[in-house]
Amino acid sequence: MRSLKLAVTTSRSQTTDLVCQARQIARKLAVPYIGRGDCSLEAIAAALEVEGIVVVSPQRVACVTRAGEFFFHPSLAMLRIKELNNGKTDQMIEAMSIGPGNTVLDCTMGLGTDAIVASFVTGACGRVVGLENSEIIAFLVNRGIAAFPESDRDIATALRRVQVIPVDHREYLRMLPPGSFDVVYFDPMFRLPRRKSPAINVMRTLADPDSLERETIRLALKVAVKRVVVKEGRDSSELRRLGFNNVLGGRYAPVVYGVMDGQGV
Ligand SMILES: C[S@@+](CC[C@H](N)C(=O)[O-])C[C@H]1O[C@@H](n2cnc3c(N)ncnc32)[C@H](O)[C@@H]1O
Repeated sequence: MRSLKLAVTTSRSQTTDLVCQARQIARKLAVPYIGRGDCSLEAIAAALEVEGIVVVSPQRVACVTRAGEFFFHPSLAMLRIKELNNGKTDQMIEAMSIGPGNTVLDCTMGLGTDAIVASFVTGACGRVVGLENSEIIAFLVNRGIAAFPESDRDIATALRRVQVIPVDHREYLRMLPPGSFDVVYFDPMFRLPRRKSPAINVMRTLADPDSLERETIRLALKVAVKRVVVKEGRDSSELRRLGFNNVLGGRYAPVVYGVMDGQGV
């Protein structure tokens, strides 16, 4: 499990409630709470020699690192669900070949965008479990899911069905009996350093950057009844290295999906 050196504080507008929440989060993450006073986040980080500060503000709970602010936001999932509702296809869903009632193990949950879209498609009778090896990412996504307003029902019901487990996927896959999920899915960080975006830069400071191992794909093939799916950059050689011959994706899409048949049953 990847854990950063963190501290917790509030925004400059401090209320008793925010301080109470910040103290609770510090206890949960087993890291120091520091009263904000009038200090800048840079000053707190330098004084405590931490890599990130969890900031509890009236708007959200975020983790601020030297690269920027990371917080849960399902905006991309909302857009993809809207497109599915309008009858458009989603490349990931096509690659997974899932529908209502299917079960999906997302081994690299990150912000949870893919897991939320999968949960929307698998529905109330399906199941989506998201594994995340960064303690702070898993914490913020879990909290963001719990705090998401009910007003947007499609999204709220889809995201509340995602079960977040903070664990290294290799450890989890080894424990699972054969055929535990219909689809096992990976979207590793490996290719991301080539893309320049503030959101991705901040994610890179928190996430586990390791590429996938062939042994992990072997474990996943035992767990998957239907398919193992890996998302990669179109120009990446990763899918070939991992032994994927069947690669799906739109002709001009920047990402493609490697697909292998599961051996779970
Ligand atoms: C590119 S992001 C995934 C983005 C995600 N598909 C989404 O829709 O938001 C990859 C994530 O996988 C996590 N990760 C990498 N290796 C992992 C491992 N061995 N076990 C669990 N999570 C891992 C990283 O910490 C990172 O958060």
